[in-house]
Amino acid sequence: MSGGPFDTMVDTAKSGFDAAAHKPLLEAWQGLSLADIRADLGARLIAAGIDEGADESRFLINHVLAPARLSDALADPALFSWQAADQLAALAWRRLSRVPLSQVLGSQPFWTLDLAVTPDVLTPRSDTETLVEAVLADADDAPARLVDLGTGSGAILLALLSERAGWSGLGVDLSAPALAIATANAVRCGLANRAGFSQGRWGEGLADGSVDVLVSNPPYIVSDVLAGLEPEVRDHEPALALDGGTDGLDAYREIITDLPRLLVPNGLFALEIGHDQGESVSTLAHEAGLVEIRVLPDLAGNDRVVMGRRGAGASAVDG
Ligand SMILES: C[S@@+](CC[C@H](N)C(=O)[O-])C[C@H]1O[C@@H](n2cnc3c(N)ncnc32)[C@H](O)[C@@H]1O
Repeated sequence: MSGGPFDTMVDTAKSGFDAAAHKPLLEAWQGLSLADIRADLGARLIAAGIDEGADESRFLINHVLAPARLSDALADPALFSWQAADQLAALAWRRLSRVPLSQVLGSQPFWTLDLAVTPDVLTPRSDTETLVEAVLADADDAPARLVDLGTGSGAILLALLSERAGWSGLGVDLSAPALAIATANAVRCGLANRAGFSQGRWGEGLADGSVDVLVSNPPYIVSDVLAGLEPEVRDHEPALALDGGTDGLDAYREIITDLPRLLVPNGLFALEIGHDQGESVSTLAHEAGLVEIRVLPDLAGNDRVVMGRRGAGASAVDG
């Protein structure tokens, strides 16, 4: 490609103004068409260990072209301005360093929502939609007080509030920076009028019998496994969101022990679990005197959610 906007971009990059790390990428793309840049970026991402590199190349190009799409710019190369190429190289450089795509783009789709994501929060996973679906299947729109322990980006809380107009919700997290993102996401999703947020340790600050529906996706990765995780998770997601202790069950022990106190009679709980934790988390729930305990699979067939209820009668904590 010569005499087009891309050449202007390279001239600008060589002017001395742009000494950023992504400059070598810009130079490698000099003279290439957008189709060739797309293929080159896809190959570089795959070589960096990102299996979905071809798709991600398209996502990144669509992001810098928005609201135009890759197909528009392939038909009309002028749409791929030097600013777009410069931005693409900067984003691609970060992604090639294995920064998660969600953090590079600044957002992640979850359920029907588009949530802001930063290094301060776990990127919402599609597996977690299993928990949202399970709760919706079990609870109608009657007014309810929803609590999400370890709310992170607010993903579960906001997805449920978006589907249940009669509910109000509280997201709790130990991390103040995470709560700032969750609060911003509530505004972004138009749900701030029904969503509150509070900093604290699991249910510690909540009153007895104050919760109708309790959800949580706590950290559940065995500490020793963390170092072997993919770089996106290990190096870029908060350890507080991942580390479940020596057997991965630390958070479940604390949360489940407190459920009979927090839930109203017949109150519903749903906890996301690791694929091999169905039995151990169910056992903890039985030991706490909870009832109707079930383990549900995700779309891949792995155990993903333990849910159940507080019994209809008084719990031990009621005396
Ligand atoms: C696996 S992430 C889940 C985030 C979000 N709910 C989701 O599903 O995407 C676990 C969250 O629990 C929070 N957390 C960890 N320990 C906590 C504690 N003791 N009390 C409250 N929140 C805690 C972390 O900060 C993190 O946001």
